[in-house]
Amino acid sequence: MQTLKKHSIYALGYLLLIALLGMALRLFQLVELPFDYRFLVHTHSHVALLGWVYTALTTLIYKSYLSNASIHKKYQNLFWFTQATIVGMLLTFPFTGYALFSIIFSTLFLFASYFFMWLFLKYTSEKQKEAHSYKCIRISLCYMAISSIGPWALGIIMNTAGSGSDLYRNAIYFYLHFQYNGWFIIALLGLFLYILEQREINLPQKTFRPFFWMINLGVVLTFGISLLWMKPHFTIYIFSAIGSILQLLAMGVLMKSLYALSEKLKQATTKLFFFLMELVALLFLMKLIFQLIGTIPYFALVISSNIDLIIGYLHWTFLGVISTAILAFLSQFKLIHLTKRTVILYLIGFFLTEALLFYKGLTVWLKTSLATDYLWYLAAASSILLLGIINIFINQFRKTTGN
Ligand code: HEM
Repeated sequence: MQTLKKHSIYALGYLLLIALLGMALRLFQLVELPFDYRFLVHTHSHVALLGWVYTALTTLIYKSYLSNASIHKKYQNLFWFTQATIVGMLLTFPFTGYALFSIIFSTLFLFASYFFMWLFLKYTSEKQKEAHSYKCIRISLCYMAISSIGPWALGIIMNTAGSGSDLYRNAIYFYLHFQYNGWFIIALLGLFLYILEQREINLPQKTFRPFFWMINLGVVLTFGISLLWMKPHFTIYIFSAIGSILQLLAMGVLMKSLYALSEKLKQATTKLFFFLMELVALLFLMKLIFQLIGTIPYFALVISSNIDLIIGYLHWTFLGVISTAILAFLSQFKLIHLTKRTVILYLIGFFLTEALLFYKGLTVWLKTSLATDYLWYLAAASSILLLGIINIFINQFRKTTGN
């Protein structure tokens, strides 16, 4: 347990680092910085997905499914090997971008993630395999493996079609889609179901089955949205819209069932956890609505050339849905100490930055003028978010508790 607490603090350390890197990226437009912008974006995105989210998710999965399996030593070795690859990326991407050593570290990371998947499949008991939460986590790990086809393909594409080709861009989008819409979100749903199951709150089979099928069919079909920038054949728009509607239906089925169980859930968890789950559900619902809007050909075109709307949407999902849920779960599993005060600061920073990103996106779309000091406002909002994250991190080392 003590070890897993430490691992969770390392994950929070990465969150702090990406917030600093994100802040630096936002300052680029205001002050001169001695870094290559693209290299810093690569560092930020790799440490975010592989340092923060991967480390936190695998710690949560190990805690819930593998901590009684007597594989502590194996897991420890794998953990440190994985950390070495992440630190390797952190030390190479800012200076070289995609080059020999950063590619070697990213490739070694992929092998580590396959090994984690193997540990999960091999060391879970027959009884654990019957749980709904297990089924979600198993398929989320499959999405993780599927997403890795993207980086493997990049190597081949770079030597054939080239890094300026459509194929290159689509391989990156494939990776990103199956990482966050597949692996991260379905694993988080699985961990949420696990928390319910531990409190003897079980979804009826007639709810779980349609939910599971619709959400997963949706994951596969909504990959189409990542291709809409190319103005593809109209069937891709149809598949993307069907996928988005299926996911909305899946959420509808889940929410209806959870609504009936909400009193039980309220009593079994802390007030803060319940509030964060309600918030994450709302933010996820809005993400699914944005996703559906993005399948309408007119909006698909508007969005694909509007970087602020894209970054706003991505960070809505990364910071609002994924990171908030991870923080809530780590706290629910008693791996980190989360207080109302720090969460509120984080959420204020999140909502302000999102409001500003979407505001700029709208001015670009509607061709209206932008507030003169916009970039300073964005930097100020980002620093509130950074302050929230610094507070969450520092709180782990404080002896006193309370809100
Ligand atoms: C904590 C505060 C954060 C700030 C201030 C921030 C800021 C930024 C900025 C300015 C960019 C560059 C956009 C561009 O020019 O392409 C970016 C990209 C990115 N960020 Fe963040 N970010 C934050 C947190 C996160 C988190 C928590 C995640 C994931 C869990 C994340 C994942 C990404 C990814 C994947 C990209 C690359 C997107 C692309 O290539 O299209 N960020 N971020």
